[in-house]
Amino acid sequence: MKHLISMQDVSTKDIMKLIDLADKIENKKINVDMTGKLAALLFFEPSTRTHFSFETAVKKLGGNTFSMSGTNSTSVKKGETLSDTLMTISMYADLIVMRHIIEGAARFAAETVDVPVINAGDGTNQHPTQAMLDLYSIKKTQGTLENLTIGLIGDLRLGRTVHSLSQALSDFNTKFYFASPSHLQMPKYITDDLDKKGIHYQELEDIKEVMHELDIMYVTRIQKERFAVLEDYEKVKDSYIITKKLLEGVKNNFKVLHPLPRVNEITTEVDNTKYAYYFQQAKNGVYMRQAIITELLNLKY
Ligand code: CP
Repeated sequence: MKHLISMQDVSTKDIMKLIDLADKIENKKINVDMTGKLAALLFFEPSTRTHFSFETAVKKLGGNTFSMSGTNSTSVKKGETLSDTLMTISMYADLIVMRHIIEGAARFAAETVDVPVINAGDGTNQHPTQAMLDLYSIKKTQGTLENLTIGLIGDLRLGRTVHSLSQALSDFNTKFYFASPSHLQMPKYITDDLDKKGIHYQELEDIKEVMHELDIMYVTRIQKERFAVLEDYEKVKDSYIITKKLLEGVKNNFKVLHPLPRVNEITTEVDNTKYAYYFQQAKNGVYMRQAIITELLNLKY
């Protein structure tokens, strides 16, 4: 792997290798050395977890970072192109981590510069490092990635994390339930791909009837910032609110995951149940991002 742009480029072998590496890093079985290397963290869109977990990951490996959050203090404001910005940054950094509002921006970056590029989210398209930390979280809680029943809930059209995750899980014989408002369903290119692979999925609006089957419920926020018309968001914003009551009768191994941030789609009473795993999931992001950086920069350990 030279870059990490889309889960479609990541093989099952790569996935298992990164999970193994993250596990070794988390359990201090290896010491990776990033001394002398510099990562540029370019966030054209807001972020808490991805930005700061990459910063944490780099610093824990002994490397260093410089970063931007929004374009206000950069020469993008003077009209500099994305291409020139990236070329310039690649003269300083050994690795570029980029979040951008435009679908395909990370692929463009990888084609523009010589240093490795990590896609930290490109519009509604992909969020591969989130998918990798989600897989690591699923493996840690279920002991396997194979033959699981997984419900993806919320904004499946505009939320990029569910696109990357469903592609990533499609090689592990997952049984999917996709619960969303009718016009926020999983994009056709994702379901076409699942059809080609013969993966079972069912689209529904109400998740209640299948709760007892699920190993994982992956909840997502309705992506307010990606709606052109605010009234359309208002109509669907409370479509799914996960309460403690909804979790009655779930399997013993059942866990609730969420890429975060949440708005109101999981009530805070769920946080104190044994099923809530979303904050540990965010913590797992540090180990997985350390593993991804280690692999892309071919770091010694
Ligand atoms: N999960 C995620 O991408 O969170 P942030 O937007 O806070 O980075």
